[in-house]
Amino acid sequence: MNSTEQTLSIIKPDAVERDLVEKIQKKFLEKKIKVLKSKKIQISKEEASDFYKVHQTKPFYDRLCSYLSSGPIVVMVLEGENVIQENRKIMGATDPKNADEGTIRKLYGISIDKNSVHGSDSIENAKKEIDFFFKD
Ligand code: CMP
Repeated sequence: MNSTEQTLSIIKPDAVERDLVEKIQKKFLEKKIKVLKSKKIQISKEEASDFYKVHQTKPFYDRLCSYLSSGPIVVMVLEGENVIQENRKIMGATDPKNADEGTIRKLYGISIDKNSVHGSDSIENAKKEIDFFFKD
């Protein structure tokens, strides 16, 4: 069953630094996904730790939070049919070396840490993650 959803997307420091924002946003637009909101920000390590707290028991947690706060990021609300799953398809596998051809992480990802984009993984997390960056 199809339904219009929203999801949170983050263009991570490695991709912002390499001026890939427009190229990545074009990948969404090509799939009829709307970029409803978009802002370029830099967050503190504390904010990154809060955002990624579902991963707090993972061995890579500290590295992940340092990395997300290491430079400017672009946070976006995407909207479209089944956009949570669609965005995950467009991003590709977490580790760029396992990502399918044509996906954002295959095209632009450098490593599992510097994998260029983040996207919410469920309706519940999408709501939480959108609120985290866009609650006004
Ligand atoms: P992201 O989709 O932003 O969600 C958590 C991030 O942790 C993930 O992308 C990766 O960039 C990073 N990460 C680092 N090491 C791992 C790992 N072993 N497994 C999963 N994610 C990892």
